[in-house]
Amino acid sequence: MKTSPPAPIEREAPAAEVAGSSSLTETVNKLRRRLVWTSIWGFLATNFLMFLRFFFPRALFEPSPVFRIGYPSDFSLGVDTRFQDQYRIWVVRTTDRLFVIYARCTHLGCTPLWSPSENKFKCPCHGSGYDMEGINFEGPAPRPMDRAKVELDAEGQIVVDVSRLYTSKEFNEPGAYIPL
Ligand code: FES
Repeated sequence: MKTSPPAPIEREAPAAEVAGSSSLTETVNKLRRRLVWTSIWGFLATNFLMFLRFFFPRALFEPSPVFRIGYPSDFSLGVDTRFQDQYRIWVVRTTDRLFVIYARCTHLGCTPLWSPSENKFKCPCHGSGYDMEGINFEGPAPRPMDRAKVELDAEGQIVVDVSRLYTSKEFNEPGAYIPL
């Protein structure tokens, strides 16, 4: 006589176990919901900030190319480098004129340095040399450095305009220097 295998005994989970697992599921769901909402709000906030940024463009505020540097009597004979960092110029006074050299090497545009001991401007990039009037005499620079427009205002102050530069062919034109 064949005996059938005993049927598996179905055991009901204890009430405490069921309650525990359902509260765990609820906590997990709550965390998931919180994560989803945080992501959504983060995404919206980022987009909103990008939208606001649109109204504040990255404008470059450059200093005015026209400025005053004082009176001719403020400058003694020779090269004055006090405005090099602020305006990229040197003020040169000779016996009969005052002019302003724009401090840009005519080779590839580096800023040369004034060397008082050698009485010359020396370009640190490729070695061009210029005399105290900005005339090239060594290295690869193809021509003298340019000069900025200068004039006296009603009070006698020197007004420099670096948006108007004079090349060596124009060094004797009015505006390229102030006669003393
Ligand atoms: S940039 Fe001045 S020598 Fe080349």
